[in-house]
Amino acid sequence: MTHLLVERAARGQLPAWAALGEKRRRHVERVAGLLEGWAVAGNLPSEERTRWIAAGYLHDAVKEKPEDELRALLSGKDRALPESLLHGPAVAEIMRREGVDDRELLLALAYHTLGHPEFGRIGWALYVADFLEPGRDLANEWRAGLRARMPGEMADVTKEVLGSRIIYRLEQGQHVHQETITCWNLMAEGQS
Ligand SMILES: [Fe+2]
Ligand SMILES: [Fe+2]
Repeated sequence: MTHLLVERAARGQLPAWAALGEKRRRHVERVAGLLEGWAVAGNLPSEERTRWIAAGYLHDAVKEKPEDELRALLSGKDRALPESLLHGPAVAEIMRREGVDDRELLLALAYHTLGHPEFGRIGWALYVADFLEPGRDLANEWRAGLRARMPGEMADVTKEVLGSRIIYRLEQGQHVHQETITCWNLMAEGQS
């Protein structure tokens, strides 16, 4: 059964611990809107649709919380993540503590910034929606073209988004996380 927290989030009602300014609230609404459209177009059952929409609303729910508060929730290698990535595993951990045991959804939220080799459909849909949402001012024509291909060509679109994000990081001389590289290799080999 869908946890009440997830059901409420899918209606845009975020938990009391969420910390979202106006601008970020609009961002998560747009991400949730894309996910809802794709879930409907893909004829997903209503419980599945609820999880997709909730993923959109919840993914950045604690992004504005203080770094030390987020880090304190985490252990292992998540605790060592750079500040900009902490909000993923932190929101998943808070939800886990509140009794959410939907592994696919929690993994989607935890790794929405990096991708994860064990992602289910929600994980990739969220990853792609977060990048393609229309409020982001970045390569707008290209991203609109990719949006137009969703959800029918989700595998190809996902691969294109993931690849371009890796290329960007390489061009900037930035670190590319192991999870992200593993995802790319799986997709390139046609296993994911
Ligand atoms: Fe995020
Ligand atoms: Fe986001």
